Amino acid sequence: MNQQHEAFFTEPAVAGLVATPSIGASRPHESAQLHVAGEAAYTDDIIELQGTLHAALGLSKHAHAKILSIDLERVRRAPGVIAVLSAADIPGLNDCGPILHDDPVLADGLVQFLGQPVFAVIAETQDLARRAAQLAQHDDVIRYEPLEAVLTTREARAREQYVVPPMHLVRGEPDRRIAEAPYRLTGEFEVGGQEQFYLEGQIAYAVPKEGDSMHVWSSTQHPSEMQHVIAHVLDVPNHAVLVECRRMGGGFGGKESQSALFAAVAALAAHKLRRPVKLRADRDDDFMITGKRHDAWYRYEAGIDSQGRLLGARVEIALRAGFSADLSGAVATRALCHFDNAYYLSDVDILSLACKTNTQSNTAFRGFGGPQGALVMEVILDAIARKLGRDPLEVRQLNYYGTADRNVTPYGQTVEDNVIAPLTDELVATSEYRTRRAEIADYNRDSPVLKRGLALTPVKFGISFNVPHLNQAGALVHVYRDGSALVNHGGTEMGQGLNTKVAQVVAHTLGIDLLRVRVTATDTSKVANTSATAASTGSDLNGKAAEAAALTIRERLAAFAARTYGGEPRAVEFRDGMVHANGHEIAFRTLIEGAYLARVQLWSDGFYATPKVHWNAKTLTGSPFYYFAYGAALSEVIVDTLTGEWKLLRADVLYDAGRSINPAIDIGQVEGAFIQGMGWLTTEELWWNKDGRLMTHAPSTYKIPAISDCPDAFHVKLFDNENVEPSVFRSKAVGEPPLLLPFSVFLAIRDAVAATSSDPTCVPPLRAPATPEAILDAIDAVADGISAVEIQANALAAPAESEGAIMATLDTAGR
Ligand code: MTE
Ligand code: MOS
Repeated sequence: MNQQHEAFFTEPAVAGLVATPSIGASRPHESAQLHVAGEAAYTDDIIELQGTLHAALGLSKHAHAKILSIDLERVRRAPGVIAVLSAADIPGLNDCGPILHDDPVLADGLVQFLGQPVFAVIAETQDLARRAAQLAQHDDVIRYEPLEAVLTTREARAREQYVVPPMHLVRGEPDRRIAEAPYRLTGEFEVGGQEQFYLEGQIAYAVPKEGDSMHVWSSTQHPSEMQHVIAHVLDVPNHAVLVECRRMGGGFGGKESQSALFAAVAALAAHKLRRPVKLRADRDDDFMITGKRHDAWYRYEAGIDSQGRLLGARVEIALRAGFSADLSGAVATRALCHFDNAYYLSDVDILSLACKTNTQSNTAFRGFGGPQGALVMEVILDAIARKLGRDPLEVRQLNYYGTADRNVTPYGQTVEDNVIAPLTDELVATSEYRTRRAEIADYNRDSPVLKRGLALTPVKFGISFNVPHLNQAGALVHVYRDGSALVNHGGTEMGQGLNTKVAQVVAHTLGIDLLRVRVTATDTSKVANTSATAASTGSDLNGKAAEAAALTIRERLAAFAARTYGGEPRAVEFRDGMVHANGHEIAFRTLIEGAYLARVQLWSDGFYATPKVHWNAKTLTGSPFYYFAYGAALSEVIVDTLTGEWKLLRADVLYDAGRSINPAIDIGQVEGAFIQGMGWLTTEELWWNKDGRLMTHAPSTYKIPAISDCPDAFHVKLFDNENVEPSVFRSKAVGEPPLLLPFSVFLAIRDAVAATSSDPTCVPPLRAPATPEAILDAIDAVADGISAVEIQANALAAPAESEGAIMATLDTAGR
């Protein structure tokens, strides 16, 4: 437990007993007590109205096939079934795609992945609905004509089959620079996808209201989009649809767009039957239907000098998009914008491809393509260091972005807030990187079976939506006559602590205790036209909007206080539940009562639009990020080279959350993201069989990390920094960037595998996820002298000083 944690736990459990300040204090999550008591209400906990029916989805059994006919009579006759709905029953547009219209709610004439919903059964109970939906697997219910299915990224790539056009960014003269560099390194790499595995699955509960209106409770990161999708599916105006979400049991990107299918089907059924309908997918269906993190396959080429400086780089990032576009265009854009990670690339060529395959439509997952873009860069730098016989950290530091120069990203944004060098230095010092490097080398020399590995990786992550107009938010603050405040904003709570931070902002602004502020369910009838809570921007955007609303109220109150007690409105202060005006001390509550009687408006809206951001999607250039968040992690692992088992022994993490609004919550986010990212790169493996059936569709076959996978020594600290931009109280986003820090775990495993070789320049061809099988494969490959990369010296290049030594290592390197 580190110091910041201790501070959190030694505070009284009831936060209300602690006086403000609210900002910068480790306050418990606003729902912490409800969470642990099992009293926090999720969508499935809402008391069901009388007459509620339950829906289940009938799924396709082919990855790609024409639907010749559907005979739903047999399904209708199943016990408890009230209705069966298919594409033909949709009054409006049969689409739930967030950007392009290529995503049918229910398949119409064609199925494009195994698991695609074809019809919806509505029955008396959920169990009966699910049993009837199973009939979809019978040949006499849906008749198909199978078509050829493209199941892998490589196959789709070979056919040039994409869901959105390829994105290609070239800066400088990468061809020439690579050709003229002293060394040229080439290789391939692959990383698997990842299921979001939110503990609360996809769910929606739709209740028809008067006229053609509809109230839908949806577990979603994007209530406004659910509203729009439901409205166009039902062919009603947006004003007829109210979408509400109190909280999610996790979203992780999986409920940014893909909650739509569930919300649309529940609403469609409720609309048709004029009865409340709930659709709650069980875990297997959720796995089979929804998209995941995009797996990626890379080809790269780098021109380097003898020190390991990148002179030119080229990468092709082929992402598996699945059958439809969903958010893949935006994911591919972020992958492209994060290939540089923390490194200056003067001459670079990045090709980002969203490959169309007959599998689930991949979607947002914490990091949103950023992890896929940056991972390959870290893999390349690690390989360069190994080939040149240098410490990987030194090669990284050599390539870091500068502050005064070498600070323009490939897409043209100037990095104005670079702290990666001092942040790394601090971590190197506190984690004792250098002594431990030496210790591990000694250990490995004497240990033939168990090998230890170490790696330190940095992250620089751009904060904002790449699409500028999404960077806006609204909030509504009510102050009631007893001086308590109710806040509503456009963001959604998924466990990340957004509501806690927003409440802290409002409490601080009004100078009242945190317990006097309550944040209510996200509701499209309160704040309109919101963006998804995504891109880690939740507190940046909604915190600012709520602050604006609270400031408006405070200004009115200050004016009222000055009128009443004299003095200047500007001089009125709000703190500790008191208002200080012209020498008077008035309880906030007393001032509120007076202001009410004087007919002062005690509620306000607030709005925020992120300044400065712009992006040209055609040229793939601009300044898409308001600022960058930074971090670094050092991981140490031990690998059993006979079984492929491994353990993370220790992780030291330093993360730049700016002036953290709530260090306890931010550290929790860093820890969670780190372990979640580690799962992606090590134990979580998605596997489709030759028919395109996802075989790993439950926790029995898909292994997410558990508490036992967390290292015994887990040192997470926040870097002392402040946002150079006037973000909300100078804080920085924290939700996604730390997911990239466990790159260090993967590369520590690669380091341990490399220790099995007598060749110090060996680069093990370890794929991700580094499951025990993958580790054993890499160990075998190393024994056979196979290297993950090829390196060639350029005879024409000007020889560098240390040339001789490097040529000597090259002669013995790999194959
Ligand atoms: N933390 C928890 N506990 N549950 C979640 O679903 N989602 C992550 C991150 N942290 C998530 C989480 C993702 S994908 C994002 S984009 C951010 O939280 C969104 O919230 P924020 O913008 O308020 O940080
Ligand atoms: Mo997060 S992947 O942006 O929802």
